[in-house]
Amino acid sequence: MATTFLFLLLSAIFIAKAQQGQSNVNPGSFLTPTTNSSWPSPSGQYAFGFYKQGNGYAVGVFFAGIPEKTVVWTANRDDPPVPAAVTLNFTSAGRLVLQSAQGTTKSVVVLGETASSASMLDTGNFVVYNSDNQSIWESFQNPTDTLLPTQQLFYDDVLDSSVSESNQSTGRFRAIMQQDGFIALYPIGTPYYIEYGYWSKGIQGPQLNATLNLDVDGHLYLANGNGIVTISAGGNSTKGLLYRLRMDDDGFLRLYSYNTNQNGDWVVTWSAIVKCDPKGLCGVNAFCVIYDEEYNCTCLPGFAFVDESKRTLGCERNLTVDNCKEGTYVMEEEIDTVWENDTYSLPLFSSNIEDCKIACLQDCNWEAALFKDGACRKQRLPMRFGRRQSDSSVALIKVSTSTPSTNRTMTKERNKELRVDILIVSITLVAFAFTVLAISAFVIYRSHVSKHENVSNMGNFVDEDVGPRSFTYAELEKMTDVLLEIIFCRRSVDSNLPEEEVILEEWVYSCFECGELDKLINDEEVDKRQFERMVKVAFWCILEEPSLRPSMKKVLIMLEGTADIPIPPNPTSVISMI
Ligand SMILES: *[C@@H]1O[C@H](CO)[C@@H](O)[C@H](O)[C@H]1NC(C)=O
Ligand SMILES: *[C@@H]1O[C@H](CO)[C@@H](O)[C@H](O)[C@H]1NC(C)=O
Ligand SMILES: *[C@@H]1O[C@H](CO)[C@@H](O)[C@H](O)[C@H]1NC(C)=O
Ligand SMILES: *[C@@H]1O[C@H](CO)[C@@H](O)[C@H](O)[C@H]1NC(C)=O
Ligand SMILES: *[C@@H]1O[C@H](CO)[C@@H](O)[C@H](O)[C@H]1NC(C)=O
Ligand SMILES: *[C@@H]1O[C@H](CO)[C@@H](O)[C@H](O)[C@H]1NC(C)=O
Ligand SMILES: *[C@@H]1O[C@H](CO)[C@@H](O)[C@H](O)[C@H]1NC(C)=O
Ligand SMILES: *[C@@H]1O[C@H](CO)[C@@H](O)[C@H](O)[C@H]1NC(C)=O
Ligand SMILES: *[C@@H]1O[C@H](CO)[C@@H](O)[C@H](O)[C@H]1NC(C)=O
Ligand SMILES: *[C@@H]1O[C@H](CO)[C@@H](O)[C@H](O)[C@H]1NC(C)=O
Repeated sequence: MATTFLFLLLSAIFIAKAQQGQSNVNPGSFLTPTTNSSWPSPSGQYAFGFYKQGNGYAVGVFFAGIPEKTVVWTANRDDPPVPAAVTLNFTSAGRLVLQSAQGTTKSVVVLGETASSASMLDTGNFVVYNSDNQSIWESFQNPTDTLLPTQQLFYDDVLDSSVSESNQSTGRFRAIMQQDGFIALYPIGTPYYIEYGYWSKGIQGPQLNATLNLDVDGHLYLANGNGIVTISAGGNSTKGLLYRLRMDDDGFLRLYSYNTNQNGDWVVTWSAIVKCDPKGLCGVNAFCVIYDEEYNCTCLPGFAFVDESKRTLGCERNLTVDNCKEGTYVMEEEIDTVWENDTYSLPLFSSNIEDCKIACLQDCNWEAALFKDGACRKQRLPMRFGRRQSDSSVALIKVSTSTPSTNRTMTKERNKELRVDILIVSITLVAFAFTVLAISAFVIYRSHVSKHENVSNMGNFVDEDVGPRSFTYAELEKMTDVLLEIIFCRRSVDSNLPEEEVILEEWVYSCFECGELDKLINDEEVDKRQFERMVKVAFWCILEEPSLRPSMKKVLIMLEGTADIPIPPNPTSVISMI
């Protein structure tokens, strides 16, 4: 009995060993979601293939050797799930594609050259090879939210959290290995500035060589060839222990271990964060409060959860506010809360909180204010990154005192419309700005050329105070050209057009940084301060993250010259945290 068992065990080991060199998948192989749905690694610990997602399937790499089939990598993570009637085809042309029943195809991995074989390795790395057996694509080099032992993050590599445990679409938080040697956490959509980050750890020395590493014994550390900085100590026996590091959907970076001898659950062995640290954890117009060992989200006064069962989605106005109806609003206080610093607003100095409330009530443009240490900073909605913190800072929110004239359903619909509006406005923002410019340029040009022609209708487009009235047509044309160039450069970054245009954008930015914008306008006579203003606004408008781009209103205020324009981030490179 025992010898039979031993024999079986030995042959199993032998077969596993023999299979190690033969686990390659070749053109002609295919998978379907329901039968032969994955290609396992030789040990069976990992598999590449279909897994259940929503009411369909996704393709990825997952732990296959344990009951918890944890997903560690996902192909095309932001695509909707695919139906059961698809085939993952390793085509004779050397591509890995999903083929629908209708015959349409979509690449699972984007390859630069023809693939001759692919292999699911025992490390959890899915590798595609060319005809020379050289790796041409690796899941380890294209991580989603998880880092596995022996996988490394190099500079600029990111781990983006998933929406939830059961939905691997891109979520809300990011870990990035920065060029300055720091591994740092941010809400997705914010620039890599220290005020947006909520955790980081760095290593001294050659910064571009710094990597984040996870060893098979659970040792998590930064290294750069000169030394290491341990983040979580390993050194435990590797027998039967599995590790993975994941950027979790709640903004925590956690190291998990799994004891295969106990078949329990994944256990957190290390985590970076204190509850409520991840900025934006509670969504907009809400703040995070720590209760004992847990956190909870609370809406601002006058706001209600978008979805009471998913409190982290944030809050919206319970009642619509008609800002300018006098006497029907009060300012409600939410003490000891800290929020994103809206750098577009300049503080008013008022000795007490009542003055701050009055100032906000009298101004139709503002729905909230932050009062701290005698400074009253008016805010626009939505308010972000709210967190309760013992602090002298008070949030003041304009709240209606009148009986509700609209109910919540209507508010919701209104908000939906508004969101669509905002989307359209964002898309057309830049175009519109130039239309205004072009029209005003045209008006000015026409009025210079011929004072007799009637152009007053067009003049209505341009606010007397906003309109850049002091410019000549040539000036405006020049400015517009330069700004358009900047914007086309941004487009070329997105669509991989010629590199010199990217360089042009960098050049414009470096001119701006060094205060040498006049290099851009050569001999033209241009109001330099206004030109700088416009360049700054342009750089804000072309930020890749739409949420960072200023609103139309802010653009107008910034162009108007009544508000300071913060220095825009360099659009082409990651900004150092220190
Ligand atoms: C699925 O795999 C089994 C065993 O590995 C094999 O016998 C069968 O032919 C495969 N089916 C398809 C459709 O490839
Ligand atoms: C996953 O989340 C995204 C973003 O919230 C959503 O659009 C998508 O429908 C979700 N997918 C599933 C399968 O629930
Ligand atoms: C895979 O793609 C090839 C074309 O490259 C096609 O001939 C073949 O039928 C496909 N196989 C499956 C199972 O869909
Ligand atoms: C590629 O690897 C396979 C299996 O490991 C081997 O059989 C083959 O000879 C190798 N080809 C080359 C060109 O090295
Ligand atoms: C950084 O790495 C490169 C190769 O990746 C190496 O040539 C260089 O010497 C390293 N620099 C330092 C200071 O270790
Ligand atoms: C190593 O073992 C110790 C004691 O069992 C445990 O407290 C620690 O969390 C383990 N470390 C890792 C990285 O698993
Ligand atoms: C948050 O608070 C609400 C209301 O008090 C409660 O129903 C909910 O269970 C709490 N959520 C958590 C995660 O503690
Ligand atoms: C919304 O406003 C109404 C009327 O002011 C109030 O009765 C209700 O409790 C509010 N709902 C929430 C969720 O705050
Ligand atoms: C907000 O930003 C302004 C300008 O960047 C700065 O002067 C002010 O100190 C900041 N306030 C807080 C509370 O961080
Ligand atoms: C709220 O407004 C919607 C749309 O006008 C209406 O269908 C619904 O009956 C209203 N609900 C209440 C409670 O008044």
